[in-house]
Amino acid sequence: MKRLLLLALPLMLSACAAERDGALTEPAQLDGKQLAFSRNKGNCLACHVIADGESPGNIGPRLQSLASRFANKQQLREQIWDARQFNPETSMPPFGTHHILSPTEIDAVVDYLWGL
Ligand code: HEC
Repeated sequence: MKRLLLLALPLMLSACAAERDGALTEPAQLDGKQLAFSRNKGNCLACHVIADGESPGNIGPRLQSLASRFANKQQLREQIWDARQFNPETSMPPFGTHHILSPTEIDAVVDYLWGL
C-alpha cells in the first residue's frame, strides 16, 4: 500500500503542475505592461522598442501590431515562453522555460502586447 502511494505521488504532483500551466484561460490580474517594462521581470525594453518605453534597445524587432503578426495569443505566448522553439540561435531569453516569468505573468504580458 505504501509502495502504491509512492508510485502515485509523482503522478499527483505532475497533475498539479499541469493545472498551473493551464493558467492561460484564467483572466490575467497582473499588470502586463509593468511586467514587460520592469527591469527585474521581463525587461523587454532591453531589446525591444515598445510604445511609451524609455531608452529601448534594438536587438529585437519593435513590438507592435502583434495581433497581425501572430495567428493567436497562444502563438505569441509560445514565442515569449521559449523563443528557441522558432529560432534556436535567438538571443531572447526563454522566459517560461527558465522561470524568469511565471505562467500567469506571461499571460499578463501576452494580454498587454496583444492590445498594442
Ligand atoms: C536579450 C534580448 C531580448 C529580450 C530581453 C527580449 N527579447 Fe524578444 N526578441 C529578441 C530578438 C533578437 C527577437 C527576434 C526574433 C528571434 O531572435 O528569434 C525577438 C522577438 C520577439 C517577438 C517576436 C516579434 C515579431 O514581430 O516577430 C516577440 C513577441 C518578443 N520578442 C517579445 C518579447 C517580450 C514580451 C520580452 C520581455 C518579456 C522580450 N521579447 C525580451 C530579443 C529579446
